Amino acid sequence: VNKHKFQQDLIGWFENEMRDLPWRKDQDPYRIWVSEIMLQQTRVDTVIPFYNRFMGQFPTVEALANAPEEQVLKAWEGLGYYSRARNLHTAVKEVHECYGGKVPKTPEEIASLRGVGPYTAGAILSIAYDIPEPAVDGNVMRVFSRILSIWDDVAKPSSRKVFEEAVRRLIDENNPSYFNQALMELGALICTPTSPSCLLCPVNEHCLAFAEGVQSELPVKTRK
Ligand code: ADE
Repeated sequence: VNKHKFQQDLIGWFENEMRDLPWRKDQDPYRIWVSEIMLQQTRVDTVIPFYNRFMGQFPTVEALANAPEEQVLKAWEGLGYYSRARNLHTAVKEVHECYGGKVPKTPEEIASLRGVGPYTAGAILSIAYDIPEPAVDGNVMRVFSRILSIWDDVAKPSSRKVFEEAVRRLIDENNPSYFNQALMELGALICTPTSPSCLLCPVNEHCLAFAEGVQSELPVKTRK
């Protein structure tokens, strides 16, 4: 893969085609964080109205940190997986108390927060702070398994680091925010789990699976 051309094709497509989503209006790390937690187990269309209401109620780290837990859980009603809300609330209180309300900027500090795993840490660091860290979730593994023809089993926890290293090699250090968001967007709109739209794909000329005609066989995912 020609790294520079790949970055240009991917980010150029994203600039033209990105959906207008409420968490893309600015680079506030708190707002990005909340969006990523909500998006973990819930689809974009469902998240949007909850996200907007939540941000109206708790617009800042301080507002959420000072809110009673019952009010936070009430606002989460309908999204499910309430441990996400409890963990977020705990972590935001820690940011308020230990980091002066500023979401930390190092991978170690940010990943130490309750409910913030490697994916969420990478998403916040890259999208909010433009730090070139991979943000690898199931969608990004699918996209990368196809582009680079990676046959590691994405159901195996040890495969994550294979994909993280692959993203590290190709990430645009000048625009990690758009690079990672473009991968998520490509996975959502083009490089879908079944019947990917390869003929419309902005990076099909870089895609090894497409060249070999094996896009429908990737990613490899054994039943757990
Ligand atoms: N899924 C996970 N993170 C996302 C984001 N930032 N935008 C759209 N979909 C996502």
